Amino acid sequence: MSASIKKIGVLTSGGDAPGMNAAIRSVVRTCAYHNIECMGIYRGFEGMIEGDIMEMGPRTVKNIVNKGGTILKSARSAEFITPEGRKKAYEHLKKNEIDALVIIGGDGSFTGGLVFNKEFGFPVMGIPGTIDNDIFGTMFTLGYDTALNTVVEVIDKIRDTANSHNRLFFVEVMGRDAGHIALNAGIGAGAEEILIPEENLGLDRLLESLKKSKASGKSSSIVVVSEGDKIGKNVFELRDYVEENMPEYDVRVSVLGHMQRGGSPSCFDRVLASRLGVKAVESLLEGKTNYMVGLIADKIELTPLEQAVKGKSKIDAELLRVSDIMST
Ligand code: F6P
Repeated sequence: MSASIKKIGVLTSGGDAPGMNAAIRSVVRTCAYHNIECMGIYRGFEGMIEGDIMEMGPRTVKNIVNKGGTILKSARSAEFITPEGRKKAYEHLKKNEIDALVIIGGDGSFTGGLVFNKEFGFPVMGIPGTIDNDIFGTMFTLGYDTALNTVVEVIDKIRDTANSHNRLFFVEVMGRDAGHIALNAGIGAGAEEILIPEENLGLDRLLESLKKSKASGKSSSIVVVSEGDKIGKNVFELRDYVEENMPEYDVRVSVLGHMQRGGSPSCFDRVLASRLGVKAVESLLEGKTNYMVGLIADKIELTPLEQAVKGKSKIDAELLRVSDIMST
């Protein structure tokens, strides 16, 4: 263990995700276990710039393993993009005698951490936290499993009403640039069609597929659309297009929105958060920096932060095929 690290700072940044609190708890308690001090930095990089920093002992994180959101709050900081902002942040870390940083967030937050390391040689370690599951170097990001369960639960409810009225529903789910939520929740909830940014289905093929569904005897249909899908401008335009071209369909739209980011984390996310937090702190204590901890083949492994930021988390082609077959 590195003798030079005596105090670790932890922050959550970017869009919040269920399991972030469990990860904060894990970082704080792993520090306590190794007799290292831990400081919580509020509102991500914004709080680092303003010096919004508090000491965190193991009892300060009681009763949060089951809580959604993040007790440290989160923000997307415009000032941290500037060298002046980062300098202020560095000065606050020095003033608080913080020797290393655990960043819980997505690729934008990791990019900030990398720049910070480059400028000040400050040790950083990333924990992937975003419901989008769009980070290279981990099979699962924190919050993704919980979000999937939330989405499936809601689509099950939409299915009840869709079926009662013989309607076609477009359900828009989150995923700015990635279709993981749409694809997996779509399969889990039995959607007829799934539209994701990684695969441009095309309007003609969508109509063809809906016509096929109707002809095969289906009375109601659910199409899950990732918010980042490129097929139409937005989900309401998709509805208009289908209504124009298939007047036999009574179409409705449900945009699930931020409810997907809330709620108590699943057991999977809690266990993952606990494992990632331990590995993040212990890796820093071993003198490692500029890595992200992630789950690869059921082991917690390190991936260089740069790779985590630049690499692409690919969509599984087998899942696309399964989804096609299931909608037969
Ligand atoms: O990054 C996670 C995410 O939930 C995306 O899926 C979504 O596009 C975005 O955050 C929404 O962010 P905001 O909190 O700025 O509305």
